[in-house]
This record gives sequence, C-alpha cells and structure tokens, in this order.
Amino acid sequence: MMIHRARGWELPETAVTPENWVLGRRRGLGLAAGLIAGLGLPAAARSQGGAPVARNERFTPGRALTPEREATSYNNYYEFGSGKNVSSAAGRLPQRPWTIRLEGLVEKPQELDLDDLLKRVSLEERVLRHRCVEAWAMTVPWTGFPMADLVRLAAPTAAAKFVVFETVRDTAVMPGLRQSWYPWPYTEGCTMAEAMNELCFLAVGLYGKPVPPQNGGPIRVLFPWKYGFKSGKALARIRFTDTRPVSFWEKLQPSEYGFWANVNPEVSHPRWSQATERLLGSNERVPTRIYNGYGEFVADLYRGLDGEKLFL
Ligand code: MTE
Repeated sequence: MMIHRARGWELPETAVTPENWVLGRRRGLGLAAGLIAGLGLPAAARSQGGAPVARNERFTPGRALTPEREATSYNNYYEFGSGKNVSSAAGRLPQRPWTIRLEGLVEKPQELDLDDLLKRVSLEERVLRHRCVEAWAMTVPWTGFPMADLVRLAAPTAAAKFVVFETVRDTAVMPGLRQSWYPWPYTEGCTMAEAMNELCFLAVGLYGKPVPPQNGGPIRVLFPWKYGFKSGKALARIRFTDTRPVSFWEKLQPSEYGFWANVNPEVSHPRWSQATERLLGSNERVPTRIYNGYGEFVADLYRGLDGEKLFL
C-alpha cells in the first residue's frame, strides 16, 4: 500500500504564514523589502501573490531563534582566520557583482550572474537548525531556494554522481589563504541524491536581509542534517563530477572529518562527544539528534550504505 504523507510543498498557500507577518505586517514588509532591495530583485519578483518571501513552515525548528547578533558574530570562516570573530574582516569581501560557474559534467558550462539567477528561482524562508562539528548550534531564518532548482538549471549529464561546492578564493581580502598548509580553496561536496534532496538549500538571505559576508554571503549552501563544515560559504563554482570529492577538512584530517558528516549524537568525534550541543546565545546544552532532527527527510538517502562512515 502506498502511504501518502503530505509534504510541505503541498501545503495550501493559505497555510503558509510567514512569522514576520504574524508579528506585524509593517515589520514583515520592512524585512522582506530590505532583503529584496539588498538582493536587487526586479519589481516583478518582489511580491509573489502579496507575500514577499513566504516562510516554508515544513521545517519547523522546534526551538527558539538564536539572537541575530550571536549568529552573525560567532562564525567559522578560515579564509578570514581561525578565530570566531571574523565579521569585520569578512566585511571586506565584495558581495556584488557576483558570478557562479556551473561546470564539469553539465550539458553546457555556464557562468551565472547572481542577480540574474535570483530572477529565475523562487525564494522562500526556512528556519533551520545548524549544528557545528564543534558542538555548538544555532537556529536561524534563511532565505533562499532549493539546490534542486539550481541542479535543473545546470542540466548535469547522466554521468554526474557528485556535486562540489567551491568557495571564492579572493587573495586580496582573505588573509587565511596565505596559510599554505590549508588545502584552499574551501571545497565541500555531496552526492547528486543529497543535492536533489528538498533540504539542500542555497541561502542568499539571513534574518530577512542579505546573508552577511561572515555567514557566507552572498550565497552559501546549507546541509542542515550534516555538520556545519559541509555548508560552504561564498560559492564561486559548483561542479558536477563522477568522482567522489575529497574536501577541505577531509584532506586536512581524514581521521576526524569525512565525506558524509551526518550528525549523530552516538558517534563521537575522535576528540569529543557529540551527545549534546550548546545553543549560541545561551548557556543551554540540549541533546543532539540524529541527522540534526531531519531524519524524516534524509534517512532514506543512506539506506544500503552500511559500509560507509556516514557520521564522520
Ligand atoms: N565555508 C568556508 N568557505 N570556510 C569556512 O571556514 N566553515 C564551516 C562552514 N562553512 C567554513 C565554511 C563551518 S566549520 C561551520 S560550523 C559553518 O560554516 C559556520 O557557519 P556560520 O559562521 O554561518 O555559523
């Protein structure tokens, strides 16, 4: 028997009520208008049926939002240094003009201007949990579009099995790039099936504004069920390949960081437990959940892969 479970995308329009509209229409419009102005979207894209950027309520976070100040001032971004306080340095990374190259096993390699790309996708807001491998976590509202939409635009060939996400390499503003023991540029990757999963998201907004440079602006990828290091920032290239990529952290320390990096409280990092996590902005520690609580969306991706180190 086939069991049909309603997916978030199937919610009627009326059921999608962005929280900022509930909080107050003026504030909601202000946030959305700010984001849209910042993103440079054309008037036609500004309102989709009157709701500027609707929140997709399918991914309810089940815990309080992290204060914006915390989420935007405690960052990991090794191109700007190994400390958490990189926001002012990252602020030097130009956010426009910005192009993304789609290359490798695609029908036609292309370079897309980010603003042109944004006219071709439909934006939504998602409040997602983020779990860093270092055992801190946050819950923040991202604006963006499903990675699957970009895959369709890229038109990969049947030979494509993996996707590689490459961060920009801007030596003029990224002092970390001079640290030659790191395998720059920052690259991360996933399987085609993971890229097509509805949870894989490309974010261009955070708290209703353009993603700040320190959080990966102008565009970053999100894998909310994986440790945060998989979510590469400031994407300049997206490559389709038939070979499993070895990414930044895996090259540096393969015994500690792997390809899959799915969150699992029962599989410790070689140097610390992953059983709990500290919520940014509070001293509260909460239990970590398998797949960061997104198992219903992603667990099927890993059936039959028992020989793989799925949680490292
Ligand atoms: N992307 C790049 N290019 N460089 C980085 O150092 N750090 C990763 C990930 N993406 C990183 C990156 C890690 S370890 C985490 S936990 C998240 O970004 C942190 O995202 P945040 O600063 O927005 O919280």
